[in-house]
Amino acid sequence: MAGTTEKGKNIILIGFMGTGKTSLGKAAAGKLKIPFLDTDDLIVSREGMSINEIFATKGEAYFRSLETQIIRELQDLEGGHVIAVGGGLPLREENRPLLRKLGRVVYLRTSPPVLARRLEADTTRPILRQGEGSTLEKVERILKEREPKYLDAADIVLENDGSSFYKTAGKLTNIYKKGGEFNDQS
Ligand code: S3P
Repeated sequence: MAGTTEKGKNIILIGFMGTGKTSLGKAAAGKLKIPFLDTDDLIVSREGMSINEIFATKGEAYFRSLETQIIRELQDLEGGHVIAVGGGLPLREENRPLLRKLGRVVYLRTSPPVLARRLEADTTRPILRQGEGSTLEKVERILKEREPKYLDAADIVLENDGSSFYKTAGKLTNIYKKGGEFNDQS
C-alpha cells in the first residue's frame, strides 16, 4: 500500500457514537504527549455552530461534505496525533482510503446495550433523535448497517465496553508506539 512508511504516524479512532473515541483518544494522547484532534470539534469551530444546528440549518449532506473536506485536509498533518472521527465519517466510501492513509485505524467496538445506556439521555446527536423506536432499537439497527464499513476501514478492532478504561487507553498507546512494527506486517 502506498505510504505505508507513514502509516504509524497517527492513530485514528472510529466507531459508533458513544464508544469512547473522544475520552479514550484524549487519555491516550495525554499519555503519549501528542496532540488530540476530533473531526466534530474541527467542524463545530469552523462553522461556529453545534452539530445539531448544522444538521438543522444546513442538513446532513452538508455536514458529510465537511467531514470529507476535513479528512482530506488532515492528510497534511505533520507529526503524530490521535484523531477521533465522527461515527458517520467512515461510511462514505471515499473517506475510508483517506482514513487509512492518515494512520493506523482503530475501530472501537461497544455492544448495543452499553451504547444505548450511554446514549439514552443524549441530546447532542441528531442521528439518534430521528426515526422510530427506543434508543436500543435505533442503536442496533444503525450499528448493523454500519459495522461492515467500520470493519472495512479498520486495521485493528478494540473492544471497549468501558470496563477497563485505562487498560484500553494503554492498548491505544501501545498501538501508536508499535506503529512501525504493525506496518511491517501489513
Ligand atoms: C454522527 C456521530 C457524531 C457526529 C454527528 C453524526 C454519526 O460523532 O459526527 O452527530 O452519524 O454517527 P460521535 O461519533 O463523536 O458522537
